[in-house]
Amino acid sequence: MKIAIINGPNLNLLGTREPGIYGRQTFEDFLKSLKEKYTDVQIDYFQSNVEGELVNELQRTGFSYDGILLNAAAYTHTSIALGDAIAAIKTPVVEVHISNISAREEFRKNSYISAKCIGSISGLGLKGYELGLLYFL
Ligand code: DQA
Repeated sequence: MKIAIINGPNLNLLGTREPGIYGRQTFEDFLKSLKEKYTDVQIDYFQSNVEGELVNELQRTGFSYDGILLNAAAYTHTSIALGDAIAAIKTPVVEVHISNISAREEFRKNSYISAKCIGSISGLGLKGYELGLLYFL
């Protein structure tokens, strides 16, 4: 099984970025433990702060991977291009958010990607990525 994790802008700063909201663990640390726990799964990770690069990665992985876990970060609330990319590919996408986007500012309640995804996980911390992975398994 091949799973892609795609993270959007500012998620490279996890660990130091607003730890009260996003926690103190770096994504690299979390990813290491996830890979150690699911040794039978090929987990490929991509992060970019650039919207078009996220579109490119969705297109690259979207016809050959079994599942994609996408945290589009702030682009969730702005990007028609990401929504269109998810609709255009074959691989199912689970939307993941570390924080509960429904319980924060008003502008975070809108997602341009939710309706194109097979499901969404929000507010369960980094555990949300593992739960998304378990869905594909
Ligand atoms: C986020 C929530 C978004 O609203 C925010 O812009 C992020 C991270 C989350 O994982 O909780 O950057 O996607």
